[in-house]
Amino acid sequence: MKDAVQSKTILRALAGEALPTPPIWMMRQAGRYLPEYKATRAQAGDFLSLCYNPELAAEVTLQPIRRYGFDAAILFADILLVPQALGADLWFVTGEGPRLSTITQQSDFDALKPVDAIHDTLNPIYETVKILRRELPEETTLIGFAGAPWTVATYMIAGQGTPDQGPAHALREGNVELFEALLARITAATIEYLSAQIEAGAEVVKIFDSWAGSLKGDAFEKYAVVPCAEITAAIKARHPGIPIIGFPREAGDGYIGFHAKTGVDCVALDNSVSADWAAKHVQVDGCVQGNLASSHMVTGGQALVDETRAIVKALSGGPHIFNLGHGITPDADPENVTLMIETVRGG
Ligand code: CP3
Repeated sequence: MKDAVQSKTILRALAGEALPTPPIWMMRQAGRYLPEYKATRAQAGDFLSLCYNPELAAEVTLQPIRRYGFDAAILFADILLVPQALGADLWFVTGEGPRLSTITQQSDFDALKPVDAIHDTLNPIYETVKILRRELPEETTLIGFAGAPWTVATYMIAGQGTPDQGPAHALREGNVELFEALLARITAATIEYLSAQIEAGAEVVKIFDSWAGSLKGDAFEKYAVVPCAEITAAIKARHPGIPIIGFPREAGDGYIGFHAKTGVDCVALDNSVSADWAAKHVQVDGCVQGNLASSHMVTGGQALVDETRAIVKALSGGPHIFNLGHGITPDADPENVTLMIETVRGG
């Protein structure tokens, strides 16, 4: 029998191999653009009930694998389960997004739970991982994930998504001790959470720093690079050989050197950088993932084919995992996903 790294194309790319056809998966591949997702979600009730129901969460994770044969499955969960496990209230307002109790003063922070309490809440997620490892096809890689501390903190501080992460920047400037204590708590919780996912069967983990782009200069180094490096070092020490994907979304020049500074095996690119630029400045240091604009999943057509081919070609000289630059949106056409996959695999 071939070992896992030999047979799984995602693991080969993460180990640094330039493959003739890049392996492919898609952010938010289990989501509302799929009718079968909507049906299972309706069965679960609301989004959080789906996340905490291992059978149904495994089912929606498997749906895009059955439909499209992606090379990787990503655990179905959410980055905001960690704040909830630390004691924040969390709910989703239909059509608007997440809402949380806010952290604006020391007493809010003091009310949070200690890191070792998180598993009480997150155990069902580890169950989902176990089911998936049993049920996924042998060639499909299982990716676990968590939010990066900065991105998670932006939601915990503001109590919701914000266009400019203003409340988090305000706390960072107005009460840096509290801000850094919060980041440290999230970092420690994330290490435990990702470790538990790996122990349950995750083969790769990805750290989503969706709002990294709003940190500039020194702040980017301190609050995007350093926490990612800390998480990576801890995971590598406990679980040698588990590859890590970092996603400092919209980091711009911050993508340069991100592999070396953090120790991640792969850097995921959003679509604000060109694949040609990334080949020269980022892929020289290791595997990259990305970066087709998710709008092509709505509009389709020749532009989708041309842009997909251009990305594959630009990144063909080194290790590359094909993906979108951000999650697929609910208005996407499932047929366009098929077209993207056929273009990547068939030319
Ligand atoms: O990629 C996947 O298929 C795996 C599952 C996954 C979800 N969220 C499911 C989800 C992953 C990896 C995430 C990550 C996540 N969650 C991020 C980081 C990546 C990114 O998109 O920038 C962030 C910022 C969140 C927080 C979050 N969760 C928001 C802001 C929202 C609401 C926005 C929206 O799309 O409605 C969610 C909800 C959410 N998470 C959905 C899904 C499939 C939609 C929920 C639904 O069914 O109504």
